[in-house]
Amino acid sequence: MPKPKVFVTRLIPQKGLEMVHEVADAEVWQEELPPPYEVLLEKVKGVDGVLTLLTDKIDANLMDVAGKSLKVISQMAVGYDNIDVRAATERGLPVGNTPGVLTDTTADFAWALLMAAARRVVEGDRFTRAGRWKTWGPTLLMGPDVHGATLGIVGFGRIGQAVAKRASGFDMRVIYNDRNRREDLEKAMGAQYAALDTLYAESDFITLHTDLNDTTRHMIDDAAFARMKPTAILINTARGPIVDPNALHRALKDGRIAYAALDVTEPEPIPLDSPLLTLDNILLPPHIASASFQTRNKMATMAAANLAAGLNGARLPNCVNPEVYK
Ligand code: DGY
Repeated sequence: MPKPKVFVTRLIPQKGLEMVHEVADAEVWQEELPPPYEVLLEKVKGVDGVLTLLTDKIDANLMDVAGKSLKVISQMAVGYDNIDVRAATERGLPVGNTPGVLTDTTADFAWALLMAAARRVVEGDRFTRAGRWKTWGPTLLMGPDVHGATLGIVGFGRIGQAVAKRASGFDMRVIYNDRNRREDLEKAMGAQYAALDTLYAESDFITLHTDLNDTTRHMIDDAAFARMKPTAILINTARGPIVDPNALHRALKDGRIAYAALDVTEPEPIPLDSPLLTLDNILLPPHIASASFQTRNKMATMAAANLAAGLNGARLPNCVNPEVYK
């Protein structure tokens, strides 16, 4: 019997790819850049499954172009705001994602950004390479202490909680905001619930861990920045559009806040003519928070397992729209 046909939208880590090839006749997009939407439409025609990344727009039109053969959409990411899940559900299509495996890796990276921003690690390296390190300087490249500071966590799901755990080792005061207050965790995690306004006003570091939806899009806007301390440092490892980039530019330029370290931007990649790139008080790695060897391998194998289950007509081990099974 011929194997089911699938399209994989990029070269994923080897282990995951091997699993895909075992169960399917797979076409794998080999380029560094994602397939343009029009090409994607061509590639998915008549496939049984598609393994996608957060850079692929998976909308109702694409699902219809793929046609009746399409049985599963498997995303190699925990976030899936690039996929029209409602349209998938209407068509009875399960959508898979890769939750859990990247929690600690992403929290580690949020912590790396927080430490690097506070203690000016990247600026220090540039300073040395530019030949400006002439002597030990009593006021050279000073920054705020991390230990003992107040950390505001916006979004207290898995990753937000993992960041709180790291903060306890630094004797920080941790406050959090989430649409669901987690009183059950507060004592154990040493975290207190705070209204957003309070969190903005009292935090030395604000780290974003909410998902992107209609409520959180541009939630960090001029009004939010206006409430923050001028010494505040903003960390974003969630999704770029949670922060309004124009408001961020104004806030950093006018000293409304001190610094931003963003692994994610709006848009991605950030255009080279973005005014944000003219500022010194911003750190902009290219969306790599989950990029540890171990985690990316696990994400690939989880995505392959979801794909394989969907092709078999079995329930996906990690499904974002389980209502399709009702
Ligand atoms: C995700 O999985 O949603 C991350 O943003 C990429 O690792």
